[in-house]
Amino acid sequence: MRWRFWLFSLVGLLLTFGVRGGSVEAAEIKKAKTVDELMKMFDSSSCKQCHSKEYEEWSQSLHAKSLIGTPRTLGSMAGTIESLWKEFPHSGVKSVADLTADKLMFCMKCHAPQVQYLEPSGVRELAELILKARDGDEAAWKKVEQVNINCLICHQEKAIVHKWLDGDIDRKVIYGKKEGSHMDPKYKTLKKSPVLDRAVFCGQCHGTGPNFEFSEPSQCATAYGSYLHAYIPSGGTKSCQDCHMKEDNLGHKIPAYRDKRMVKKALDYSVEATGYYYLHKPNDLRPTARVVVKMKNKAGHRIPDG
Ligand code: HEC
Ligand code: HEC
Ligand code: HEC
Ligand code: HEC
Ligand code: HEC
Repeated sequence: MRWRFWLFSLVGLLLTFGVRGGSVEAAEIKKAKTVDELMKMFDSSSCKQCHSKEYEEWSQSLHAKSLIGTPRTLGSMAGTIESLWKEFPHSGVKSVADLTADKLMFCMKCHAPQVQYLEPSGVRELAELILKARDGDEAAWKKVEQVNINCLICHQEKAIVHKWLDGDIDRKVIYGKKEGSHMDPKYKTLKKSPVLDRAVFCGQCHGTGPNFEFSEPSQCATAYGSYLHAYIPSGGTKSCQDCHMKEDNLGHKIPAYRDKRMVKKALDYSVEATGYYYLHKPNDLRPTARVVVKMKNKAGHRIPDG
């Protein structure tokens, strides 16, 4: 009996500490009530004046409109929101009015991770904007576009992967490849991110397979899984950053096949063709050809992805 008591109190203690630990972390960042407040929290417009090259390149990337995409993403985000009441009888959502951040994270985890810091009021506003933008409202479209993967999402929010080893994110700091002072008036310190120049950094959003952590698992990008399980075991040595940023000075545009330079380095192929005639039946000589196509994928993962 006594053992059991101790066991229970120990569990109680662990739970108390566990919950406390969690709430300290959550309290560190004050949640946003509106989409405007969220955009202000992750505002990286100040970066433009000193890093105009990175800013310009980033503006042309799909990271700069990660809820709009090509714009297939916008349609599919809107459809997913509606599917919560149309297709999922156990989602607990009957209309936009029931939405909370956790109902959208199975997409937002990667397309706009900052949505986790939105209060329900802000989530509902964002969902309305996405639906309106899909239906052609230009002002809504412009606003949705601004909830994206910007400088602060990469150089702060996603800059530490192993938080038990390297500690939590410091919200006053910009993470790069070195330590020192920084000229930005709000972010006066530079710290070294342990992962920024490694594949795992991109892997946080570029997927390993199904996202089983959600009540309704989703699967979208899986390039990082393919990189780990196919490219590396067959002798690949490059990182995502090597092929998508450093080579050919691609920089922060971080392109895929929308850029000719990427298409060029995607495949090795050769075509061999020999033409001949064959006699199908008497008096029926048909022209035909033997064609051998050899194709080798030179990308660091399967293509296409997803
Ligand atoms: C007033 C000018 C200024 C502003 C504003 C500014 N930076 Fe910087 N930043 C610099 C300078 C100068 C350096 C180079 C520091 C060095 O090399 O010691 C730097 C360095 C960096 C680095 C580190 C590069 C490395 O080699 O690791 C990153 C990342 C960075 N800035 C991101 C940002 C982001 C994100 C913003 C916006 C939130 C921003 N900066 C705003 C001037 C600025
Ligand atoms: C916060 C999540 C996140 C991180 C971190 C991230 N990405 Fe992405 N990336 C996305 C999303 C989401 C899209 C797709 C946006 C869309 O089209 O809807 C994307 C699109 C892309 C594309 C397609 C671009 C195109 O023009 O077709 C490439 C390539 C890419 N990312 C490479 C990288 C690389 C390399 C890194 C690491 C340096 C990285 N990403 C880091 C989420 C992320
Ligand atoms: C594990 C991270 C992750 C999750 C979760 C995720 N996505 Fe994606 N998604 C990406 C990345 C990265 C890309 C772009 C690169 C690629 O396709 O490989 C992408 C691409 C897309 C595209 C094609 C983009 C274009 O511009 O053509 C659509 C559409 C899309 N996602 C919708 C969704 C929806 C809807 C959900 C939720 C049901 C979702 N995604 C969940 C990471 C994710
Ligand atoms: C998708 C993630 C992502 C986004 C968004 C992003 N960066 Fe970077 N940034 C990186 C990575 C990764 C590196 C390091 C590349 C490497 O390994 O050299 C980097 C490097 C840098 C550097 C160092 C210079 C260099 O080329 O080595 C600066 C400065 C910088 N970023 C500024 C910015 C600014 C300003 C923005 C917003 C306009 C921004 N970044 C947006 C991922 C990102
Ligand atoms: C050896 C070079 C190389 C490496 C390493 C590499 N990529 Fe790629 N990646 C490419 C090329 C080339 C393409 C363009 C393929 C095409 O034109 O069809 C591409 C395409 C993509 C696309 C677009 C896929 C699609 O179908 O929409 C994404 C997203 C992407 N890469 C992300 C990544 C991420 C994330 C990593 C690291 C985990 C990575 N890549 C590592 C060369 C590389």
